[in-house]
Amino acid sequence: TWTPLSFVEATVKELQKKLGSDKVVLGLSGGVDSSVTAVLLNEAIGSNLTCIFVDNGLLRKDEFKNVLHSYENMGLNVIGVDAKHKFWNDLRGITDPEEKRKIIGRNFIEVFDAEAKKIKDVKWLAQGTIYPDVIESVSVNGPSATIKSHHNVGGLPEKMHLKVVEPLRLLFKDEVRRVGKALNIKQELLGRHPFPGPGLGIRILSDVTPEKVRMLQEADAIFVNGLKNWGLYDKVWQAGVILLPIQSVGVMGDERTYENTVALRAVASTDGMTADWVHLPYDFLAKMSNEIINRVRGINRVVYDISSKPPATIEWE
Ligand code: XMP
Repeated sequence: TWTPLSFVEATVKELQKKLGSDKVVLGLSGGVDSSVTAVLLNEAIGSNLTCIFVDNGLLRKDEFKNVLHSYENMGLNVIGVDAKHKFWNDLRGITDPEEKRKIIGRNFIEVFDAEAKKIKDVKWLAQGTIYPDVIESVSVNGPSATIKSHHNVGGLPEKMHLKVVEPLRLLFKDEVRRVGKALNIKQELLGRHPFPGPGLGIRILSDVTPEKVRMLQEADAIFVNGLKNWGLYDKVWQAGVILLPIQSVGVMGDERTYENTVALRAVASTDGMTADWVHLPYDFLAKMSNEIINRVRGINRVVYDISSKPPATIEWE
């Protein structure tokens, strides 16, 4: 019978046999899948694993610093790369959602590849692919593929001429979380909501600027911390804030304002394929709206997204 512990033991052995004394690189994202993959490989091959964590300038507030620290505390051999300005430069003036995704994906590959090349004799690229990703990439050839290009780093292994190792390939998300628990990874990390590879880049509708990133990071941090403080975070499958390309009129003191709108989004789902908007308490929404408008310079209006998937998607781009 399958247990997380038996999976860990068997997989560590398999990895040791397969990889021997080869060197492996892995891109960490702060998410559950790549983190569990890293810890599993670290158990198997220790310092022959190098993890690379890229700051693409589109992460949540303080995410790069905090997540890098927690990886270091977990004993992982991790390199943090600050590539914010490269991503922001290439995204300047780009408004088309698919083009934004492509630029973000391409930049990630460039940054990751350059960093991996500094490590001598790397033979393998490890990826946190899980079973639903395998299925999704099969359907990439089907008609649904054109809805959104989800694959973040498709093309990475080919470009780098590396062999691919994907130890979580046959697991579902809940199994990945259980394996993570068996590996003593903190619940705080294992319980994290999914977050898209292109990050805040697809939650800033229209073009991305550093100032918009700042605004969205502030508003998103208020919302996510609010969910945690109100005991709602674990009841929601995914939540975030979207910065709309809309200004509207408001008043602040005696002054007329003409500032930005954000939408709050919180959904219940099991796999992201379908999703229902969550009936968050009005008191909570009222509090979030007040805090965001009072504390985030540049935002004067907050709306709540009450659309389910389908026909809406979870992300707005
Ligand atoms: P949608 O918006 O299609 O999102 O309902 C379903 C799930 O996928 C995530 N998502 C992405 N994840 N790269 C990713 O890694 C992407 O380009 C991407 N687009 C959407 C989304 O956050 C949700 O969990």
